[in-house]
Amino acid sequence: MEHDTIPAALPAVLLPWYGENKRTLPWREDRDPYHIWVSEIMLQQTRVEAVKGYYARFLQELPTIQSLSLCDDEKLHKLWEGLGYYSRVRNMKKAAREIMDRYGGVFPHTLPEILSLPGIGAYTAGAIGSIAFNLPTPAVDGNVLRVCARLTKDFSPIDQPETRKKVAAALEAIYPENAGEFTQALMELGATLCGPNWKPKCESCPCASLCLAHLEGIEEELPVKAPKKPKRQEDRTVFILSCDGFFALHKRPNRGLLAGLWEFPNLSGKLEPDQALDELRQMGIHPRELLRQVERKHIFTHIQWNLRGFYLEVWEMTGDFRWFTAEEIQAQAALPTAFRQFWEEIHHV
Ligand code: ADE
Repeated sequence: MEHDTIPAALPAVLLPWYGENKRTLPWREDRDPYHIWVSEIMLQQTRVEAVKGYYARFLQELPTIQSLSLCDDEKLHKLWEGLGYYSRVRNMKKAAREIMDRYGGVFPHTLPEILSLPGIGAYTAGAIGSIAFNLPTPAVDGNVLRVCARLTKDFSPIDQPETRKKVAAALEAIYPENAGEFTQALMELGATLCGPNWKPKCESCPCASLCLAHLEGIEEELPVKAPKKPKRQEDRTVFILSCDGFFALHKRPNRGLLAGLWEFPNLSGKLEPDQALDELRQMGIHPRELLRQVERKHIFTHIQWNLRGFYLEVWEMTGDFRWFTAEEIQAQAALPTAFRQFWEEIHHV
């Protein structure tokens, strides 16, 4: 960091701005730690607009920590369907059980206890600590890292853990009484004025006169990120098999990528139509008509799937699959986005 400290005047500048400019968001209606927890887990990797619907539905179905602790995984996956990183919600259930067993169902309110819960790392613990309990615990996400890199003209790569720790320590030193509001004000600034993929709106920013990057006109050169490793490419062939209004799904193993979720039958490699039909026969499937072939992709954190989809009518509901109606797929089966995209092409939802 050019300047190891964040200006002590930051809260006095940022809090009034936040008071006047904050967006109305569902998780800002109260400070219930359960609500804050659910929202912060969902907001990791997912945009605010996309989270709103999931948040409302999740809390409607699982209004208490106890209800989450007792929810079966199928339903949990369905509530999370499309959000990705499904281990997040399984960890939430583990944490909910721990809160029931160890804390009598009351969300713990010290940082070490919050941090010890499954799936809760420094960011989430800091967010819950400050927003729900008003503890002086910074929550340093990508938004906050970007804001701080610009404020202090810091060229350390923001994707390195040391940078995050350094920023957390620098923020901790200036945390105000109003900790929850300050945490959210920093995030809000990063989301609405000091954004990631567009020119920052310094002309509207309450911090412009404190911002070292802006004072030198180099705000768009920050933050610095370490070069990304290229994603591993994997080709797969996906079969959308239908028979009398039923569709074949297969449950993925309980470990690894997309663990325990449903998928359309699929194989490694991009197969030609003739090869694909042969492979299906070997799975005990009797193809009737090849309807369509499409090329799609799906991008995970470390892997990119290049997918070739075959839509087929088959003669019988054979093979080692479970056959679902369209309504059952809609209501029950958690079908992750990589596969759901093939479904949505034929069932416009
Ligand atoms: N991103 C992460 N946490 C957030 C929050 N509480 N409000 C808005 N955006 C966020």
